[in-house]
Amino acid sequence: MKYFFIPGRNYDLSKAELISVVSSNIPSVHNFEFKPDYIVLDSKETPDAIARLFNRLGGFISCGVRYDDIDLILDEVGDRTKITFGLSIYTDKASKYSKSNIKDVLEQVKDLLKSRGVSSRYVIPNGLLLDSAQVIHNKILEKGFEIVIFDYEGKQFYGKTLAVQDINRFATVEYDKPYTNKEMGVLPAKLATIMVNLLGLKIGETIWDPFCGSGTIPLVALMNGYNVIGSDIDPEAVAGTKKNIEWLAADNKLNSVGVNIFQFDVLNPDSRTVRDLRRTTIKGVVCEPFMGPPQFKPLSQAKANKLLVGVEEMYKKLFETLEHIKLTDFKAVIVIPSYKTHNGWLTLSLNSIVSKKWRVDSNLVERDLHWKRSNSIIKRNIFVLSKKI
Ligand SMILES: C[S@@+](CC[C@H](N)C(=O)[O-])C[C@H]1O[C@@H](n2cnc3c(N)ncnc32)[C@H](O)[C@@H]1O
Repeated sequence: MKYFFIPGRNYDLSKAELISVVSSNIPSVHNFEFKPDYIVLDSKETPDAIARLFNRLGGFISCGVRYDDIDLILDEVGDRTKITFGLSIYTDKASKYSKSNIKDVLEQVKDLLKSRGVSSRYVIPNGLLLDSAQVIHNKILEKGFEIVIFDYEGKQFYGKTLAVQDINRFATVEYDKPYTNKEMGVLPAKLATIMVNLLGLKIGETIWDPFCGSGTIPLVALMNGYNVIGSDIDPEAVAGTKKNIEWLAADNKLNSVGVNIFQFDVLNPDSRTVRDLRRTTIKGVVCEPFMGPPQFKPLSQAKANKLLVGVEEMYKKLFETLEHIKLTDFKAVIVIPSYKTHNGWLTLSLNSIVSKKWRVDSNLVERDLHWKRSNSIIKRNIFVLSKKI
């Protein structure tokens, strides 16, 4: 069966995330087709299994089943007599689809349904696409279906949406948790999810975030069924992360219960904690270090360099500790910042942080991965590193 996936704004990150999650969760043979606006996955897995896999992702807007003919989608209405449906159009010729054209297509589908004895109402997209909020709010997937038209290079095929991104899930982690510390910088929950997924671990394996802050990485990792070790130099962050995990657990949103959060200074690793870490079964590190307070205008070169020296020092020490823990079969997904200065962007070289024992995971990454919000002063560069055995 062919499935389509619609990536979010950072295509290369989303692509790497999907490759990672599919290869660690789908044992059977599968193939990808990568297009600029969508990705097709050819897999023997059932639509339910693909929807479950989709719900683990942070970098995708929707996914669905691909069809060659729109009638095949209508055949699946079965014996329902009343439905709600919607339409989204992905195309390289947007001018072909005016508002009235879109309404005509919706009316045609409504007529086809009527001829099959099904009464229906439709939701008109904003522009060419229904957004996740429209799909969720109108219960389109529960009460009917969303048809997706793919129209590229003069050829059309169709899709039926299986799942859309649960925006509330990310908003809850970002805005509703009891403890937050904006001065320290908080990782977006979608990016934290993508980073956890880039490790490509099996459910139940253990992840360590050594700069846990308010606990975004531990929270999303626990929600996806991983066990978590979290640490921070700041006792307030340690207590806050614990509080946030308890809050999420009380809401029954956690799929895992293996949690250990404690105080640890990466720059001065105490031998007792390092010994304890050696006894754990950590399979990967996911983290973002302190990158300075939020910035609203370009920095001076001196200030950016000072912040970068801090990040460099922190990572050098962290990777020394990781080597000391003697982990094998191990991965790290880390953020290295770039700062916008009056003289252009400044960043660090990976070689200044990690020894030759580490390599960038080339199975996942063809190009450098970035997460940048428009007009932001700090750009996050994401690196997926494996330890050579
Ligand atoms: C950018 S914040 C992490 C934010 C976190 N990912 C979140 O979303 O809330 C960086 C964290 O690194 C911690 N930190 C700074 N220096 C440290 C050190 N030497 N060892 C361990 N943690 C440190 C800070 O206390 C801060 O909580």
